[in-house]
Amino acid sequence: MKPLNVADYRRAAKKRLPRGMFEYIDRGTEDEVGLRGIRTRLDATKLEQCILNDVAKPDTSTVIFGEKLPLPVIISPTAVAGLVWHDGEVQLARAARAAGIPFCVATQSMTSMEDIAARAAGTNLWFQLYVFEDRQLTRDLLRRAKALGIRNLLFTADTPRSPKKEWNTRNGFGIPIKPTLAGGLDVLVHPRWSVSVMLRYLMTTGMPTYAHYPPEYRTRITRALVWDNVRLARRLTWEDFSEIRREWDGNLILKGVLSPADAERAMLHGADGIVVSCHGGRNLDSAPVALDALPRIADVVAGRMTVLADSGIRRGSDIVKYLAAGADAVLIGRAPLYGTAAAGEAGATGVIEILREELDHCMAFTGRTRLSEIGRDAIWPT
Ligand SMILES: Cc1cc2nc3c(=O)[nH]c(=O)nc-3n(C[C@H](O)[C@H](O)[C@H](O)COP(=O)(O)O)c2cc1C
Repeated sequence: MKPLNVADYRRAAKKRLPRGMFEYIDRGTEDEVGLRGIRTRLDATKLEQCILNDVAKPDTSTVIFGEKLPLPVIISPTAVAGLVWHDGEVQLARAARAAGIPFCVATQSMTSMEDIAARAAGTNLWFQLYVFEDRQLTRDLLRRAKALGIRNLLFTADTPRSPKKEWNTRNGFGIPIKPTLAGGLDVLVHPRWSVSVMLRYLMTTGMPTYAHYPPEYRTRITRALVWDNVRLARRLTWEDFSEIRREWDGNLILKGVLSPADAERAMLHGADGIVVSCHGGRNLDSAPVALDALPRIADVVAGRMTVLADSGIRRGSDIVKYLAAGADAVLIGRAPLYGTAAAGEAGATGVIEILREELDHCMAFTGRTRLSEIGRDAIWPT
């Protein structure tokens, strides 16, 4: 049966992917308190139902950084999306293009931004930056993004350490992937993925790599990183952010903001936008839920820069809740990944279409005819 919602796509992805890979995408860190909290908080948030408004055709479009988008949605950067489907990032980009929404390419993508731009020509591409220990390599990435005409740079600042993802350790799944007996069996019992993704890579371009790492440093994903200069910077400060600000003349968006004080600092350091994000429950397990942090941050920002937000979006109503709490638009991470893992571009397209339709429904039930009408009053006071 055709998937009816994101949860159906998640189930399909679970069947198709080796367990280690599915859990790498799906799960959170440590005790997964953060991951559960995101869902609990979204579910506990109620929306005001308003009747007898003309909601024949709610307008779901918005303008973000001067660009009109048909939906207030951007596909979030997700490392190794290229492993859930052959050329997964290209599939995601094409689905984004078909929907007219941006796709944010990750630093740790399996396909380079140039390849994605060539094979999904016309996609509104953003680039997500992880800063390397070797800042010259970081500058090279910026130069490449600029050469492609990318205007929007997400600077991810909420990963100062590799998070403690115990599920990955138990499954023997991480980057680098360590071949283990359990991992080998896992791959064997998922032949659709093994043949259509891994075998296809091995028979064409070879074992996937982090495509943005310079060739002389690029390591196969089955090997540990042995060069310090391509490790993600552990000492990353506002100075680094200022330096990137000086070098990047497009829009600079700081991802991983959860406190009003950091939002204020981001503005002082010249950010054009922020992403209020708890990284989908994948980094600090005790972090506040993004939806909780958002209203205070939006109050501090008071319209002076663009506020994006993410974590846990699986329904159109989740999008409405984030907008009501103060976001101008949202990012979606796992939802389109489940779609891609289940059916490539068609699956990612299916997920976006479901979210679009659910957003339309939710706007109709809450009596909102355009996104600007979704204010704090859309949330039912508890
Ligand atoms: C498999 C996976 C890989 C991710 N890799 C990155 C990354 O490389 N850079 C980044 O800024 N965020 C990364 N994220 C976080 C997402 O960009 C986003 O903040 C998060 O997934 C939002 O929550 P959601 O998945 O519930 O939508 C990743 C998320 C997932 C699920």
